[in-house]
Amino acid sequence: MKNIIIAIDGFSACGKSTLARDLAATLGFAYVDSGAMYRAVALYLLDHLVPIDDLEAVGQALEHIHIAFKNVQGQNRTFLNGEDVEDAIRDMRVSAVVSLVAAIPQVRRMLVRQQQAMGQAGGIVMDGRDIGTVVFPQAELKIFLTADLDQRVRRRMLELSARGLEPIEAQVRHNLLERDHIDATRADSPLRQADDAIVLDNTHLDRQQQLELALQWAYARATEV
Ligand code: CDP
Repeated sequence: MKNIIIAIDGFSACGKSTLARDLAATLGFAYVDSGAMYRAVALYLLDHLVPIDDLEAVGQALEHIHIAFKNVQGQNRTFLNGEDVEDAIRDMRVSAVVSLVAAIPQVRRMLVRQQQAMGQAGGIVMDGRDIGTVVFPQAELKIFLTADLDQRVRRRMLELSARGLEPIEAQVRHNLLERDHIDATRADSPLRQADDAIVLDNTHLDRQQQLELALQWAYARATEV
């Protein structure tokens, strides 16, 4: 099978990471959670008290940010300047500001460059908001994932609870809607469906069903090119 690039985009909490991870594991491809990179930048700015609207300060801070992914006991975890921040970046305080950080063009330029380098050899599944449109417009397979808002809220609540947090439903719902709005209306690389993306609505699909559909498309694309 050819080492294709699979781009998965869509709104917040519709299961992009789950599908991307499952696809990568089945195909033996690398998996990159591009949202984790924006979250890591947001965490750094919060922890270093860098005002998000001070573009010069943000630009300087970016020079001190190094993001890496490492496999720890079978789990893909995000590292910021050598520290495991996988849990910290999922916190609501990061979710509350990450879309504002992700709208800053300098931040996007730095992260998109790194994402493109990671995909150079192909054989990669990356999920995010602009993967099929900006990061890998040449990706052999692009999936645009959607799900009903209620379903997305339910899934994110379960995910946060499983991490030992005590999420408040109204807060989670508000955050998803707010991020969707900021992500879809920002000037630089807004979230949108690529013209050649396949839409997958997984509201009524379980994990295995969505994986099987995506795998069929992946095998078809990997053999036709
Ligand atoms: O997992 P969830 O849907 O909550 O979001 P995420 O994938 O962790 O991404 C967090 C935020 O990063 C998004 O709301 C976007 O603002 C930003 N992001 C982006 O702008 N471009 C990407 N390729 C990925 C994420």
